[in-house]
Amino acid sequence: MDIIEIINSRRNTKSFKSDTVQKELINKWLQAGTMAPNHKMTEPWEVYWVGEATRTKLNHKTNFFNAPIVLAILSKHGANEIETTENTVATACFVQNFNLAAWADGVGTFWSSLAVAPKIREILAVPEGYDVIGVFGVGYPEEVNPPRERTAILEKMKYLP
Ligand SMILES: Cc1cc2nc3c(=O)[nH]c(=O)nc-3n(C[C@H](O)[C@H](O)[C@H](O)COP(=O)(O)O)c2cc1C
Repeated sequence: MDIIEIINSRRNTKSFKSDTVQKELINKWLQAGTMAPNHKMTEPWEVYWVGEATRTKLNHKTNFFNAPIVLAILSKHGANEIETTENTVATACFVQNFNLAAWADGVGTFWSSLAVAPKIREILAVPEGYDVIGVFGVGYPEEVNPPRERTAILEKMKYLP
C-alpha cells in the first residue's frame, strides 16, 4: 500500500482477532510515532502498557473490543498553556504515526477517550502534569468496515488575500 492508501483505508477498529501482536512490532510502530513533529523537541508522549489487572479496573464497556493489547498514551504538559497545547498536538501526531504504521502492517487500533474521566487517571496512576490522550486497543482486525465518508476538503477551504 502506498501512504495515501494506508491513510484512506485505516479504520478505528472495533473487532479484533485473539492473536497477539509481537511486542517488537508494536515497539517499531511506537518508534515511528516518535518521528512526529514536536515543537522544541519536547517529545511529550509517554506510553503505558496496560496489563490484565489494570485493564480489568478500567472496565471498558466493550473490553476494548477484546483487543489483545491495550496501551495508554499520555502527553506531558509544557511550561505554559500554549506549550501544553503544542505538546497535545504533537502527541496526536505521534498517535497517528503509530496508528498508520500499525495499519500498514495489517494491525488496527481502537481509540477510546474514556481517558478523560478522573477515575481513569487514578487507575492508570497518571502523574500530575500529564494528560491521557487516549487508551488504545491494538490487534489484528476481525473485520474492516469501509471508510466513513469525509466532507470534501474543498468545502473547508478559504483563500485569503
Ligand atoms: C480524541 C479522539 C477520541 C476518540 N474517542 C473515541 C471513543 O471513545 N470511542 C470510539 O468509539 N471512538 C473514538 N474515537 C474514534 C473516532 O470515533 C473515529 O476516528 C471516527 O468515528 C472516524 O472513524 P475512523 O477513524 O474509522 O475513520 C476517538 C477519536 C479521537 C481522535
